[in-house]
Amino acid sequence: MKISKICCIGAGYVGGPTMAVIAQKCPEVKVTVVDINQKRIDAWNDEDLDKLPVYEPGLDAVVAEARGRNLFFSTDVNKAIKEAEMIFISVNTPTKTYGEGRGMAADLKWVELCARQIAAASDENKIVVEKSTLPVRTAQAVKDILDNTGNGLKFQILSNPEFLAEGTAVEDLLDPDRVLIGGDNSLEGQEAIEALVEIYAKWVPRDRILTTNVWSSELSKLTANAFLAQRVSSINAISELCEATGADVSEVARAIGADSRIGSKFLKASVGFGGSCFQKDILNMVYISRSYGLHEVADYWEQVIKMNDHQKARFAKNIIKSLYNTVNGKKITFLGWAFKKDTNDTRESAAIYVADILVSEQAEICVYDPKVSAEKIYADLDYLNTRSSEENRKYVKVINDPYEAVKDSHAVAILTEWDEFVGYDWQKVYHSMLKPAQVFDGRNILHHEELKRMGFRVQAIGKDT
Ligand code: UDX
Ligand code: UDX
Ligand code: ADP
Repeated sequence: MKISKICCIGAGYVGGPTMAVIAQKCPEVKVTVVDINQKRIDAWNDEDLDKLPVYEPGLDAVVAEARGRNLFFSTDVNKAIKEAEMIFISVNTPTKTYGEGRGMAADLKWVELCARQIAAASDENKIVVEKSTLPVRTAQAVKDILDNTGNGLKFQILSNPEFLAEGTAVEDLLDPDRVLIGGDNSLEGQEAIEALVEIYAKWVPRDRILTTNVWSSELSKLTANAFLAQRVSSINAISELCEATGADVSEVARAIGADSRIGSKFLKASVGFGGSCFQKDILNMVYISRSYGLHEVADYWEQVIKMNDHQKARFAKNIIKSLYNTVNGKKITFLGWAFKKDTNDTRESAAIYVADILVSEQAEICVYDPKVSAEKIYADLDYLNTRSSEENRKYVKVINDPYEAVKDSHAVAILTEWDEFVGYDWQKVYHSMLKPAQVFDGRNILHHEELKRMGFRVQAIGKDT
């Protein structure tokens, strides 16, 4: 079966970049990305490529090439569903904030709505591809809804988890380590898998396209993220031990990373991992394990989250301690708010939690991030519900100029590893700060010795500075 029209429901951090690359690499396939959020769709259609809703290096060029040719962004969900042979579901699946499984299970409300909408709008057989991270066995639920509400049509459900990392999405999509496609063992299932393989094979070598059953595919996504997050929590646990003993976590990471069985990636100690996936996927895994009565498995993975929460809190508490145990009324400048560099995404960013702790101590936080808007920063704080939004606006200020942001502050904290921070005129920063001028490098990116020579007091993660 040859696919000529694709629809993707959800124009977010996953759907947008993924479909842009598919459209670029498959010019003969019409790709329509739909979303219920009109503002988002307008932004995807904006002439000014700086206004795209997702910031990713290289994405503007891909969109410029394909948009209007075979890549379209629209809010007409039903029309796009109707004409497509293959439909990707790429809607958000946040952790539930209410009821059973609150704070743990994924909220599948949006996925279910999508399935019902696909069933209602379809008048031909379709292949439905799960792109959102979903708990194991969701495909079954989607299939059940489609089979029972879909006018007797035949739907094939594939699981095609996304492994792109934000900040390198275009690179990761163009040259993936692997593409994973899970499908049914039946003849129809295998045909559906092959149809999707054909799409990716336009630019991905076939030996990197892995096919499995649906449940292996779903579980692989959760497992990959759990393993990656576990590495970060493991090195962060060691960072605290380094600080206590005088070892240097970067040296330890280099030494263990040289062991090919361990490998050198994902060993950067930090203020804590964030992003839309790690915590959510592990919580999901924990919830699923508990629901099968596998409590040791659940406890084991839950520890990765506990370590991460500890690392974020530890960073904030260290700032308080170093500022003579009181930050009340003191200006503390955050460089960075995004959960990592090269993205404007802030979901679960460590900066949010560190700020929350400091604001509870009545510090005055001043934030500078090259890509994150003030609106998003306040929304992140308000979402925690720790205090009123008026109070958040009173204690937290967002400034667009880094030199303005650091002026008269007691401390500067690096929360995101943006490259530009390294190249600042730190001498100038030093002169504009209150003394003793303190730097808390939550990403270990600055030249600490140089800063100390300038007169700064420097503290970093896992280092005896
Ligand atoms: C280990 C370290 O590998 C080595 O670097 C250190 O110097 C000593 O400790 P060793 O205990 O000899 O070496 O063997 P290793 O190959 O690491 O296996 C340890 C155990 O883990 C074995 O029981 C092995 O069967 C098990 N294992 C290893 C697994 O169950 N699965 C794996 O994927 C790898
Ligand atoms: C992750 C997975 O990498 C990706 O495969 C999956 O599809 C989605 O989730 P993402 O969350 O975009 O991607 O970014 P990632 O690079 O994995 O970083 C996650 C968090 O871990 C960031 O906050 C990052 O700063 C932190 N991190 C990462 C560290 O603190 N140290 C490291 O060594 C690596
Ligand atoms: P991700 O990181 O998984 O891409 P995002 O939140 O960035 O998550 O994007 C998900 C998108 O899906 C949002 O833009 C949201 O408006 C959209 N969405 C959610 N439910 C539906 C739906 N039923 N129909 C169309 N779009 C939807």
